[in-house]
Amino acid sequence: MSSSPTPFPRPNARDAAALEYAVEARLDLRHRLRRNRKSDWARRLVRENTLTVDDLIWPIFLVEGRAHREPVASMPGVFRLSVDEAAAEAERAAELGIPALALFPFTDPALRDAHGSEALNEGNLVCRATKLIKERTPQIGIVTDVALDPYTSHGHDGLMEGERILNDETVATLAAQALLQARMGADVIAPSDMMDGRVGAIRLALDDAGFHDVQIMAYAAKYASAFYGPFRDAVGTSKTLVGDKRTYQMDPANAREALREVALDLEEGADMVMVKPGLAYLDICWRVKDTFGVPTFAYQVSGEYAMIAAAAERGWIDGERAMTESLLAFKRAGCDGVLTYFAPRVAEALRRG
Ligand code: PBG
Repeated sequence: MSSSPTPFPRPNARDAAALEYAVEARLDLRHRLRRNRKSDWARRLVRENTLTVDDLIWPIFLVEGRAHREPVASMPGVFRLSVDEAAAEAERAAELGIPALALFPFTDPALRDAHGSEALNEGNLVCRATKLIKERTPQIGIVTDVALDPYTSHGHDGLMEGERILNDETVATLAAQALLQARMGADVIAPSDMMDGRVGAIRLALDDAGFHDVQIMAYAAKYASAFYGPFRDAVGTSKTLVGDKRTYQMDPANAREALREVALDLEEGADMVMVKPGLAYLDICWRVKDTFGVPTFAYQVSGEYAMIAAAAERGWIDGERAMTESLLAFKRAGCDGVLTYFAPRVAEALRRG
């Protein structure tokens, strides 16, 4: 930009007062960024990022029963679904073009124990849902969560000894859980537990059993966050959780450590990595994508969903626009896709155009 002499008068400075002001303020109006924003076609032409249905992974909550759906109080518009209902939603998701679903169970409290044994039960909700969905809608990807929290009486992701979360013993159980899920037909194993070494152990277990094509999406940089609150309601761990998860999930104050976590998970064999939560951690998404250039995902978690949904319910924000804007932010930050409870709604909105 040139500074002097002031490049005025300009033919498009309409009236004398405006011209005088422009001269006085020494505005350099050779550069008018507003030109590219002047109409819808022009904005579309220069748009840097686009949200499409291919960017979506839809997390679904499972519960016992038949033809049964129950609302999650802290997540307006989200339901726990019986396995048959989940299979019906999977069909709808496939029709909408959503590439994949992520499954989370609300385990009957009577089935939860200190060891999370139900995680290894072939008849558990996730196993049954995976089988049924793969039978009926094989074209949709199934992502299964590997962690013990929906199955333990104490609500932690790992096994405990006193107040301590055991790492290596937990990893052995997680590898067995992953193997079971793969046998049921899971396409992507997503360890969300944040134990050390679990990606490598899971990869080894899968390969040993011949599941070379089962992918691993590592919750690589998962923070100890307040934004998981509504999820814990949905899977029924908020009341039972003893203490917090700060000895295994990351400190929200750290960014560089996230790069170490991602580097290790990739080295151990992760095919895709995830940052979680989403919006408050866009800087991490950007750094991860920028540093490694691998398939990078964000989880727009339950608390983020709840904030938008609750404000929209009260008429305080335009819910649909906030939803789209928040998801576009992940694309801008370099993410290849997002796990979001808004998935079916976004897919429908995108279809409407
Ligand atoms: C637990 C798990 C959590 C979420 C996904 N897997 C919660 C936690 O770590 O306590 C959170 C998802 C959300 O909040 O939407 N393994």
